[in-house]
This record gives sequence, structure tokens and C-alpha cells, in this order.
Amino acid sequence: MLKREFQEIYGKIKLLMKNALKSSAHPYRTFSLATIDEKTPSMRTVVLRDFSLEEHYFDCHSDLRSPKIKQLEKNNEFSALFYSSEEKIQLRFKGTVEIFHKNSITKQRWDNVTPSSKRCYMGPYNPSDILEEYHPNIPDNVQFKDPTDQDSLSSYDNFVIIRCHFYEIDFLKLKYSGHQRCKFIFDKEKINVSWVAP
Ligand SMILES: Cc1cc2nc3c(=O)[nH]c(=O)nc-3n(C[C@H](O)[C@H](O)[C@H](O)COP(=O)(O)O)c2cc1C
Repeated sequence: MLKREFQEIYGKIKLLMKNALKSSAHPYRTFSLATIDEKTPSMRTVVLRDFSLEEHYFDCHSDLRSPKIKQLEKNNEFSALFYSSEEKIQLRFKGTVEIFHKNSITKQRWDNVTPSSKRCYMGPYNPSDILEEYHPNIPDNVQFKDPTDQDSLSSYDNFVIIRCHFYEIDFLKLKYSGHQRCKFIFDKEKINVSWVAP
């Protein structure tokens, strides 16, 4: 059982993430996902697609052909960073990822990806490839219109869910009277939480 003050913070994290899933304008709707590229950190912005505090995971979607997937296949550790300037709350997550590809979860999720977003997975080039000249990496026939189901059918092969299983949340709230910082460590059913010097 968490102490009341930690329970309040836990509830706040849950609410912020729930709101981020509902509103594309929410500051936590996008976040920085860091992976390890050999020995170098590599970061990029991604969109939050699912979150469960009880089950300790959140999801983003990506293209199987992108460098981040190759990096994660070699080293599945991640760090993720969220910040809201309205709330003055930073959340830092650490954990390991699982890549879902062509399973029942990706199938269900793919059916709910909008046709316009499906175009992101239809590119003739691997994301992050060097190009001889500019190309939007969207097939010509759908550059200015949504693809039909038939057009986007084969791009499902490129669609992956990056499931980020976290074991740690570092919470920091900025306050004039003194910043508030604590760390939650998730160990199966157990939650350990302690104050941390801000
Ligand atoms: C606002 C925003 C949202 C983005 N969302 C995603 C996303 O959800 N998934 C993704 O793979 N890339 C997303 N990108 C593109 C990535 O930041 C990155 O450029 C791309 O995935 C290639 O990354 P990589 O070379 O590290 O694999 C987004 C970029 C921006 C600016």
C-alpha cells in the first residue's frame, strides 16, 4: 500500500497519460524515446498509443524497417521522456521493449490506424535511408489522397508496435516552494517508491 502522498502522484501520472491518449494536443501525446545505437544514445519523437500503469507498459507504433527496431533487436533497453510545461511535470521511464509484428494485437491495432496514417508504412524506402534526391517516402498514387484498403494491404508487413515495459518512473514536479521528485520501481506486483533529491 502506497503512502497517501505517493498515491496522489501515482493517480496524477495515470490521469495525465489517460488524457494524453484521448487528446492529440496533450503534451504527453508525443514523447522522446531513447535507444542504444551500439554505444551511442539515439533519440526520436514518437506518438503515445496505449498506456497501462497497472500492467507497466506503454506503446508506440513504428516501421519494422527503421533503425530504431534494429537497435532494439540488439539491445532492448529504452528510456522515455515526457514533459508538460503546463503541469511542470517531467516523467522519465526506463525499461525493456517487446516488438510486436504480425500478431493478433498488431492486427487489431492496424484495423484502427487511419488510412492517412497507413501511408507512413507504405514508403518505398526504409525510414532513415540516405536518398539521392528528395522523396516524401509515400507512393505517388497516395501522396495527395488516402489509400484504399487494397493500396495499404501489403504495408501491414512493415507495421510494428513497440511495447515499452517499464520498471521505473522518475517523477519530477517543478514548484517555487521546492521541486518534488520521487522514483517508482515496479517489481512484479510490488511497487517501491522513494523521494529523490530534486
Ligand atoms: C511529432 C512526431 C511524431 C512522430 N511519431 C512517430 C511514431 O509514432 N513512430 C515512429 O516510428 N516515428 C515517429 N516520428 C518520426 C521519428 O521521430 C523518427 O524521425 C523516425 O521514426 C526515424 O527514427 P529512427 O531512424 O531512429 O528509427 C515522429 C516524428 C515527429 C516529429
